[in-house]
Amino acid sequence: MSDDTTHFGFKQVRVEEKAKQVGKVFDSVASSYDVMNDLMSLGIHRLWKRVAIEYLAPRTGHKVLDLAGGTGDLSLLIRPRIGDSGKLVIGDINHAMLAVGRDRLIDKGASDVPVMRMDAQKLPFAENSLDRVIIGFGLRNVTDKDAALAEMRRVLKPGGRALVLEFSKPVFDPLAKIYDLYSFKLLPKIGKFVAKDEDSYRYLAESIRMHPDQHTLQSMMEQAGFDEVRHVNLTGGIVALHIGFVR
Ligand SMILES: C[S@@+](CC[C@H](N)C(=O)[O-])C[C@H]1O[C@@H](n2cnc3c(N)ncnc32)[C@H](O)[C@@H]1O
Repeated sequence: MSDDTTHFGFKQVRVEEKAKQVGKVFDSVASSYDVMNDLMSLGIHRLWKRVAIEYLAPRTGHKVLDLAGGTGDLSLLIRPRIGDSGKLVIGDINHAMLAVGRDRLIDKGASDVPVMRMDAQKLPFAENSLDRVIIGFGLRNVTDKDAALAEMRRVLKPGGRALVLEFSKPVFDPLAKIYDLYSFKLLPKIGKFVAKDEDSYRYLAESIRMHPDQHTLQSMMEQAGFDEVRHVNLTGGIVALHIGFVR
């Protein structure tokens, strides 16, 4: 057992403890995850995801990984774009989230998209094997984010691209203040009322604050070996998408 610690929300925990704690959060929220997303964001998460897919630009025949893909929102947008010659996989570390995702994909006519249990820090793909990798609202939950970014870079082919969609830092002070009030006062209460789980939604707010801001994440992607990394703020920086290319 190591003495190294990391953050789980605002708490410090041993490095090997974080994945277990994150696992408990997603075990608990899986069944109400989609309803809560719509409620918490007033449906805006759908727009963020649509914009992300435009930047990801999956094409016919592409091999795509929807990493930390959970209940499959992004995959449902990607699947029609890659055609029958393309390959799409949802990868996630959590059984409960994947189980909800698999059922949803079947219900929505995308039963040919496999779900695979995997850890973003050690992807089960050969290097230079994929055209696109996207991680949506997943990276902040990963213990070693640099390792995950390096893995995303490793598996991409030349000409490939990675997209990170994640909560970020609001760029206007007044927005940041309102958002803070919302995240720390209201969000855990909505979580308590709807998902019967106040703590997981407090973790959500805390994990967002602990996540690297736009510029830090951009540098991390450059460090991981991506070319021409840039970011685009959405909804005043509440969310940002980062895109990195492999040249
Ligand atoms: C907030 S959900 C996002 C789901 C989906 N991408 C979306 O945008 O709706 C975060 C997901 O990250 C997954 N996750 C956390 N740590 C992970 C890891 N190390 N490797 C793969 N997935 C992980 C969780 O299990 C969870 O399904």
